[in-house]
Amino acid sequence: MMLRLILFSALLSVTLAARLTVPLQKSGNVREKLIREGKTQEAKTGSQVLFDKSDEYYLGEITLGTPPQKFLVAMDTTSSFLWVVDVNCTTPGCKGSSSDGTLKETYNSSASSSFVPGGPFSLPYGDDKITGNLGKERLIMSGITTSDQDFGVVETVPYLYTAQPIDGILGLGWPSLAVNGTKTPMQNLLPQLDAPVVTIWVANLKNGAPGVDFAGSISFGYIDESACEKNMQWVPLADNSTWGFKINGFQMGSYSRVKTETAITATGSGWTGVPSIVLNAIVRQTRATFDFESVVYTVPCSTAKDQPDMNIIINGVPYLIKGEDYIVDLNLGLGNCALSFFATRETGPAWILGDAFVRSYCHVFDYGNARIGLATSRFA
Ligand SMILES: *[C@@H]1O[C@H](CO)[C@@H](O)[C@H](O)[C@H]1NC(C)=O
Ligand SMILES: *[C@@H]1O[C@H](CO)[C@@H](O)[C@H](O)[C@H]1NC(C)=O
Ligand SMILES: *[C@@H]1O[C@H](CO)[C@@H](O)[C@H](O)[C@H]1NC(C)=O
Ligand SMILES: *[C@@H]1O[C@H](CO)[C@@H](O)[C@H](O)[C@H]1NC(C)=O
Repeated sequence: MMLRLILFSALLSVTLAARLTVPLQKSGNVREKLIREGKTQEAKTGSQVLFDKSDEYYLGEITLGTPPQKFLVAMDTTSSFLWVVDVNCTTPGCKGSSSDGTLKETYNSSASSSFVPGGPFSLPYGDDKITGNLGKERLIMSGITTSDQDFGVVETVPYLYTAQPIDGILGLGWPSLAVNGTKTPMQNLLPQLDAPVVTIWVANLKNGAPGVDFAGSISFGYIDESACEKNMQWVPLADNSTWGFKINGFQMGSYSRVKTETAITATGSGWTGVPSIVLNAIVRQTRATFDFESVVYTVPCSTAKDQPDMNIIINGVPYLIKGEDYIVDLNLGLGNCALSFFATRETGPAWILGDAFVRSYCHVFDYGNARIGLATSRFA
């Protein structure tokens, strides 16, 4: 009897561990901070998704090491590598400061008995890069432990990193984007899960999510039906090596465009990247004006409710984004709010679907079938 009970509870704990949810916190508005500090030029440069025109990141807690050291890392679908900053980092500001709300935790390998050192690596971020050393560590996320997780201990970081309170990045992407052929966090995690899926939802800007005090959540191993409506559409990936898929067209007010182009879902990007011709159309449809000081397109905040909806056509299905979700209040003053769009470069994906889209639609990343599920978010 006793034995059965023990067996049962052992089974139960395994089952519980195979589904895990990490609440997401917001990093705070980085763009707003840069505008306030008169550093908008910094926000303008850099082409890598993560550091491009972003305002907010969604952060989850992990630990690395023995005993565990705690970090808040950005959950990023556009990269496939885990990195945190070395306690001995050398870039000015790499540890942040409590006075401006950018204080960061850094990783001290000397304080961990499970650290396995590796050789040097470097990872480009647009025109900049991060550099450091590879290593292996014990990673714990919401109770699931992975021993020997490959990761980067970073010594130098781009300036933009220093402006935000994040301790590192956890890439949820495919092995094709792995650094130096390292094993990605998901390659280690997937065999431990009930199902090879990850659900991400983030709360609406205005209402938040009723009854919860966090910004959203990331759930590993199941489709989170408390967050996703039942109208899930499955979209195949364009090449099975990134979370990219095809967009068939776009419509807003009197403007429409029928063109099949590549899009990528970017939970690490606050703003939405669109082809420059589409950005011009959005500016016309919203009657936005360019604010040269802040380097953003603005509209009166009071118009947010009456601005035209936009529809992004994916797999023949229109996905609607409301004005209230694409117009953001950055405290620009004079009652002005910003359009959260930027023009993508010719070389990368034509569309980078950031917060405005992720806020409206619950996302299921299905690693097993190489597809993305999109459903109306219960918190939109
Ligand atoms: C950090 O630097 C100090 C002084 O050079 C050195 O003793 C220590 O081993 C370094 N720590 C790590 C984790 O690299
Ligand atoms: C790193 O950890 C070692 C061992 O616990 C400790 O002696 C050292 O002071 C720590 N370094 C920093 C910069 O905190
Ligand atoms: C990672 O790859 C780069 C470029 O190919 C190389 O210079 C570096 O030595 C590699 N690092 C390790 C640890 O293999
Ligand atoms: C991607 O993977 C899925 C399922 O594993 C497969 O059905 C599909 O043909 C693959 N697509 C491409 C472009 O390789």
